[in-house]
Amino acid sequence: MKKKTLLPGDAGFDPFYPGSIVLVSAVDADGKVDLCTVGAWALVNGDPRMYGIAMCARAAGKTFFKRYTTTCIEQTGEFVINIPHAGLKAACDVCGTVSLTKEPDADKFALAGLTAAAATKVAAPLIAECPINIECRAPSKPELPTHDWIVGEPVACHVAEDASLAWDSIPTLKSDHE
Ligand SMILES: Cc1cc2nc3c(=O)[nH]c(=O)nc-3n(C[C@H](O)[C@H](O)[C@H](O)COP(=O)(O)O)c2cc1C
Repeated sequence: MKKKTLLPGDAGFDPFYPGSIVLVSAVDADGKVDLCTVGAWALVNGDPRMYGIAMCARAAGKTFFKRYTTTCIEQTGEFVINIPHAGLKAACDVCGTVSLTKEPDADKFALAGLTAAAATKVAAPLIAECPINIECRAPSKPELPTHDWIVGEPVACHVAEDASLAWDSIPTLKSDHE
């Protein structure tokens, strides 16, 4: 396979390549709910299981501003990782472009056509349409230049009994809004 090598400063050097995305749901101290599309996430510890999500927490340039979802997690220490199926791509685009930081009164569930469902261990809602929901409490939060690497420990998981629905192709970072 022929490849070109790009170094910092070269045109086109932007190591942000396709990967899976999730929808993070969270709630602030006053009960206001938010949803955020997140591409920078991963399973980061084996035992206990821990998940990391990189949530923008500081302003930089045009793209980076503090997500309201970051504020919610700061206030309550909880969030839910909702793993979408490929049919939810349009909803992921909405949740990845509408921000409560900029439009505090937006109802992202309504705009994205998603349904909130009660979680069992955290105050943040689950997204009913997502085949997997992982409720997390966030014990630590290393700070990076623009993002907080929020590490959460699962306290409850909900998995669609139809496994093919749960594991079918997941939307990737290649959204229309790249
Ligand atoms: C495909 C895609 C992936 C994204 N990944 C992240 C991410 O990993 N971390 C982040 O802070 N924002 C990410 N964003 C941006 C937020 O989803 C977006 O700014 C959102 O509107 C924030 O909403 P909020 O301010 O209501 O939380 C992504 C957006 C898209 C479209």
